[in-house]
Amino acid sequence: MLMSKTIAIIGSGNMGEALLGGLIKANLTRPENIIATDIFESRLQTLKDNWGVQTTLKNNKAVEKADIIVLCVKPQTIQTVLQQIKPAVKKEHLIISILAGINTYTIQSVLDKHNPVIRAMPNIPAVVDEGATGICLGQHAKKVHKELAMQIFSSVGMVEVVPESLMDVITGMSGSGPAYIYMVIEALTDGGVMMGLPRDVATRLATQTVLGSAKLVRETNVHPAVLKDQVTTPGGTAISAIKELETHGLRPMLIRAVETATNKSKQLSQLLTEENLKNQKARK
Ligand SMILES: NC(=O)c1ccc[n+]([C@@H]2O[C@H](COP(=O)([O-])OP(=O)(O)OC[C@H]3O[C@@H](n4cnc5c(N)ncnc54)[C@H](OP(=O)(O)O)[C@@H]3O)[C@@H](O)[C@H]2O)c1
Repeated sequence: MLMSKTIAIIGSGNMGEALLGGLIKANLTRPENIIATDIFESRLQTLKDNWGVQTTLKNNKAVEKADIIVLCVKPQTIQTVLQQIKPAVKKEHLIISILAGINTYTIQSVLDKHNPVIRAMPNIPAVVDEGATGICLGQHAKKVHKELAMQIFSSVGMVEVVPESLMDVITGMSGSGPAYIYMVIEALTDGGVMMGLPRDVATRLATQTVLGSAKLVRETNVHPAVLKDQVTTPGGTAISAIKELETHGLRPMLIRAVETATNKSKQLSQLLTEENLKNQKARK
């Protein structure tokens, strides 16, 4: 389905490159069917060299040639970018946005057309094709658009479809989640170093422990609590460490972290929506 489409990646930074690279590696499209844009020619040259995609500095030119528009710029630049592409956007264009805090309604109302819009929240492991992406459908998005978006994000990991009201939770959990897990890897490593392991050895072991444990949950579908019980020998080492983790509140701490990040995302989304709609009114 995707093979016959031309895809414009608007803003080809970390996530933009991860997506276009994922699509090409998964053979879901050919490099010549992707048009990447950015504000620096040198960046575009790198993308051309790395992936063989078409490139342009002009967002509107990319949109003119594309069927699917994937917005990957920073949320603060969305007004400028939408105004640049607006004259080139046709009602058939599928618009996919990965911008944190920008809802489908804002995009639709700035473009002022009944485009199908899909909002997505991927995470940074998409760079190594192990991303976790939540997507939701805007008012005019249909099953066919959902399937196209699922194909795109499946090329860089797994995808869950949720109502738009849950996108802030996705942002606070899997969107920001890699930061929490990096802290866990760092802290486990420090524990190993404190007890005498060389840092490089500790880092490799801690990283593999997190990766392997996650893979076991994913591949067996066994509840993490059951897997934890299976490695907890009575009177052994793991249970004595678990007592420490429970005493210091590892679980409520992570639950509260997701709650706080979700609330922050709600706040920022509210601000960005108000700001964008105000700017849009001022332009009219
Ligand atoms: N990184 C994550 O973990 C993550 C996760 C989920 C969602 N997101 C969302 O993904 C989006 C991109 O994040 P990112 O980490 O990929 O950021 P990034 O690396 O800064 O990528 C954005 C790219 O867009 C370019 N750009 C800026 N203004 C532009 C314009 N007017 N036209 C075309 N390109 C323009 C930037 O160039 P310059 O660098 O020169 O400004 C940069 O190369 C953000 O909206 C973020 O909310 C990110």
